[in-house]
Amino acid sequence: MQAQEKPSILKENLRISSQTEIAPKIFKMVLTGQMVEEMKEGQFLHLRVPDPSKLLRRPISICDIDKEKQEASIIYRVQGMGTEILSHLKSGDFIDTMGPQGNGFDLSMVNQDDKVLLIGGGIGVPPLYATAKALAKKGAQVTAVLGFANKSAVILEEEMKQVAQVTVTTDDGSYGIKGYVSTVVDELTDDFTAIYSCGAPGMLKYVDKKFADHPHAYMSLEERMACGMGACYACVVHLKDSLEAANRRVCQDGPVFETDSVVL
Ligand SMILES: Cc1cc2nc3c(=O)[nH]c(=O)nc-3n(C[C@H](O)[C@H](O)[C@H](O)COP(=O)(O)OP(=O)(O)OC[C@H]3O[C@@H](n4cnc5c(N)ncnc54)[C@H](O)[C@@H]3O)c2cc1C
Ligand code: FES
Repeated sequence: MQAQEKPSILKENLRISSQTEIAPKIFKMVLTGQMVEEMKEGQFLHLRVPDPSKLLRRPISICDIDKEKQEASIIYRVQGMGTEILSHLKSGDFIDTMGPQGNGFDLSMVNQDDKVLLIGGGIGVPPLYATAKALAKKGAQVTAVLGFANKSAVILEEEMKQVAQVTVTTDDGSYGIKGYVSTVVDELTDDFTAIYSCGAPGMLKYVDKKFADHPHAYMSLEERMACGMGACYACVVHLKDSLEAANRRVCQDGPVFETDSVVL
């Protein structure tokens, strides 16, 4: 008889062990709880905002996973009221969390010494950190190209450097190489076993086109979400080259999709 699968979506009050503003309006929250044992790179948490007027949970990617310590971190930017309220929570507070949700990054085809490319933009960099760590642990050679609007928005550079060869770009040239990530990625000549990306829509469109024919190139997408568990179809994206109007749900079928598979 097959072992019974564990439920993939859990709900737990995770304990906030710390919360720090790591860049203007960008916060890192460290969370502890049993749910960490189930977490996989590229999945997200669906956080309830502790305010009765905010009924919809907020989806935030998992940035770092430490199963031994039952500790995970998220990094988020204050965007509107929900994330503003989250940013005022203190260590010792608890946060009602559903997750880990979605299909994360598939790392299974990467073996020791393989070359892997990570392409991240802005607040899309956090899920690539856990991914870089897991890939480095496999013995892969990880190259990361990370793009930000300007110097003050740069996050996770030092952490990434522990596990990857990192190049930073800024749109205004205030730090690193001036330009978009494409400025650097277009110059790379290595054969990468896999490519993982997360960032703003414009960046993902570039990745989608550039690596359309790559067998293992993945993008993590964002859509407005409601239920966050596949029931309401608020978060659909359309499949490319499909005769019928075929959809996929970002919360359940994604957030990670292969390049050249969905309409961006
Ligand atoms: C799979 C996934 C992973 C994400 N990971 C991160 C992350 O790691 N760090 C980070 O800073 N942000 C992340 N986001 C975006 C984050 O969810 C929104 O910034 C946040 O929900 C905004 O909430 P708010 O109340 O502050 O803003 P408001 O604009 O007031 O939000 C109003 C409503 O819109 C929804 N909403 C607003 N913006 C977005 C958005 N971009 N995507 C989805 N729903 C949105 C909110 O959930 C809420 O229901 C992610 C989004 C998705 C879908
Ligand atoms: S948010 Fe309800 S199906 Fe994705």
